[in-house]
Amino acid sequence: MNTIHSRFWAIVPAAGVGKRMQADKPKQYLSLAGKAVLEQTLLRLLDVEQLSGIAVAISQEDPYWPELGIAGHPKVITAPGGKERADSVLSGLRSIRERADDNDWVLVHDAARPCITRSDVVLLMASLKDDAVGGILALASHDTLKQVEGRIIHGTLDRTHIWRALTPQMFRYGMLKAALEAGEGNPAITDEASALELMGYQPKIVEGRPDNIKITRPEDLALAQFYLEQQ
Ligand code: CTP
Ligand code: MG
Repeated sequence: MNTIHSRFWAIVPAAGVGKRMQADKPKQYLSLAGKAVLEQTLLRLLDVEQLSGIAVAISQEDPYWPELGIAGHPKVITAPGGKERADSVLSGLRSIRERADDNDWVLVHDAARPCITRSDVVLLMASLKDDAVGGILALASHDTLKQVEGRIIHGTLDRTHIWRALTPQMFRYGMLKAALEAGEGNPAITDEASALELMGYQPKIVEGRPDNIKITRPEDLALAQFYLEQQ
């Protein structure tokens, strides 16, 4: 396997409807520090010059994407979105199939994580570029975690073994595509790592920054704004 000349690509799933955000448009188009959330996310990724291209999965009914100037950036490729996040990622992978090699690295990053820093992306790439499988940015859990059924505590989890999965998640093109294709329709695949885990692989974790939040609920937008100002 020729790892030395492997290139890096990014896939950005941006085809969700943002149900939990309860806004009048999908959360990736809400305004954050003067730009759409998705633009902020893509600007951060475009700052990583090692990325050969960024495939963005967009819903077919999305009227907002063509309005963004960044949609025409030479490194940005538009792919059709899918039913679930994993389908959108697979569509993004297929959109670069002519250009990407099976051994190339693919970094999948949620559109809804605009506070990603260039330094965290570079750290993930540098930490895992020689790895056989790849891995993800993750965050240790600071809270004590309870196992609960019907509001009754059944136990306390050993926190030292619990990490929260963030994005980007970095895997080799061929391996990731095969894992997502094998797991199509499986609801247990909620991120790329879980698809690889189901294939028997053991992805690694790289500790990421706590400000790499996913905008999910209305209050997250103000928090993201705060983090962007701090950075
Ligand atoms: N996503 C996607 N295609 C889908 C569903 C989600 O590309 N069919 C993307 C979202 O646009 C988002 C990322 O996957 O950038 C993470 O998903 P999530 O935070 O769950 O976003 P939504 O699905 O849009 O939000 P919700 O679950 O609240 O509806
Ligand atoms: Mg969702």
